[in-house]
Amino acid sequence: MSLNRFALRRSPALPAAAALALGALLATAAPAAQAAGTTAAPAAVAAPDIPLANVKAHLTQFQSIATANGGNRAHGRPGYKASIDYVKAKLDAAGYTTSLQQFTSGGAVGYNLIADWPGGDANKVLMAGAHLDSVTSGAGINDNGSGSAAVLETALAVSRAQLQPDKHLRFAWWGAEELGLVGSRYYVNNLPSTERSKLSGYLNFDMIGSPNAGYFVYDDDPVIEKTFKDYYAGLSIPTEIETEGDGRSDHAPFKNVGIPVGGLFSGADYTKTAAQAQKWGGTAGQAFDRCYHSSCDNTSNINDTALDRNSEAIAHAIWTLSAGTGEPPTGEGVFSNATDVAVPDNGAAVTSSIAVTGRTGNAPAALQVGVDIKHTYRGDVVIDLLAPDGTAYRLKNSSSGDSADNVIATYPVNASSETANGTWKLRVQDVAAQDTGYIDSWKLTF
Ligand code: TRP
Ligand code: ZN
Repeated sequence: MSLNRFALRRSPALPAAAALALGALLATAAPAAQAAGTTAAPAAVAAPDIPLANVKAHLTQFQSIATANGGNRAHGRPGYKASIDYVKAKLDAAGYTTSLQQFTSGGAVGYNLIADWPGGDANKVLMAGAHLDSVTSGAGINDNGSGSAAVLETALAVSRAQLQPDKHLRFAWWGAEELGLVGSRYYVNNLPSTERSKLSGYLNFDMIGSPNAGYFVYDDDPVIEKTFKDYYAGLSIPTEIETEGDGRSDHAPFKNVGIPVGGLFSGADYTKTAAQAQKWGGTAGQAFDRCYHSSCDNTSNINDTALDRNSEAIAHAIWTLSAGTGEPPTGEGVFSNATDVAVPDNGAAVTSSIAVTGRTGNAPAALQVGVDIKHTYRGDVVIDLLAPDGTAYRLKNSSSGDSADNVIATYPVNASSETANGTWKLRVQDVAAQDTGYIDSWKLTF
């Protein structure tokens, strides 16, 4: 029975334009998960170091602004406008095209600051943003001087590097987030639909230097999420999915209109568990940020290590996600073959084929190869993915000590240098005597 089939999946909730944007991102996202021994395309230029001292210097300025303006940087208060002016001046000097977007909330004028880095594909815009307002009770240095400063320093690093990304880069600092995502909502609501459809992703950073820090990644667009997770995995830092309220920050208005979103968070008023303290350090039984929305959210309320790592992660995501021109996608595709193929004991390699049709351009940087091989000693098994042109991507090596049964796994492959359409093969070889098995099924998710 041959079950070589093709299914096109697109969430019905996702408008076509947003699906297109998502696909563009999927088609061009960074590698980082390249299987060993491949000859796939090189990664984007690596992001530079983001100096912690620079990020902290911005926080010192936000603190001074609050101190000079009644202790806060809240919507409608002079400390907010002074914060906007500070960020805008830095960006203007660095060559950004900036604009202030005015809105009114609670009878007071508020501002979003939008900064465009000239160049890149105007039809593929990667955005990153942070809310710049504080609550009235304090200076808001972790919430959200931290995200604001890190996004600012990343934007300045783009300028220092004179980065020429394939995508167009846009940075934003939102007003009145603390009053209910007012500024970001205003921006999205006033973005013409043609402009909206050009957004390939929005990255949000709200509270990334919490004193008793956790490392949380938003569970939204899979490519953005994976970009962050891969970064932390490379540093051997465990991450968790952000659960302190989805929709509680400025990514929500974007997500609600189908734009792929993602972001980082180091925790607010939830309590760090013993297990979390075990893996991240810090104090169990205490809030991630004991000064959340309080007067003590000042420059002492920052975990430098978390702020530093998260700033580097932001730069990594901007550099990698903005690289690659992207191909017009045809939606997410799953191709599979469930015909059993016997794998002879200590014998020749066998293959199972999947014919991929109807796609445009190259395969994604995060092609998912789902493998289901039944075997009585999986250490005997060597697995490769063969691209249509014959390029082999090693998925799994043999390992004499691995006596467990079966290989049921999904392997990410950076297949961005391969044409998507054509016949892909799974090549499986049993390289040791005695145990044996068969390819039960396998699939490719584009
Ligand atoms: N946005 C909230 C604030 O500014 C903080 C917050 C709570 C948050 N839960 C979140 C931010 C989840 C990002 C993700 O007060
Ligand atoms: Zn807040």
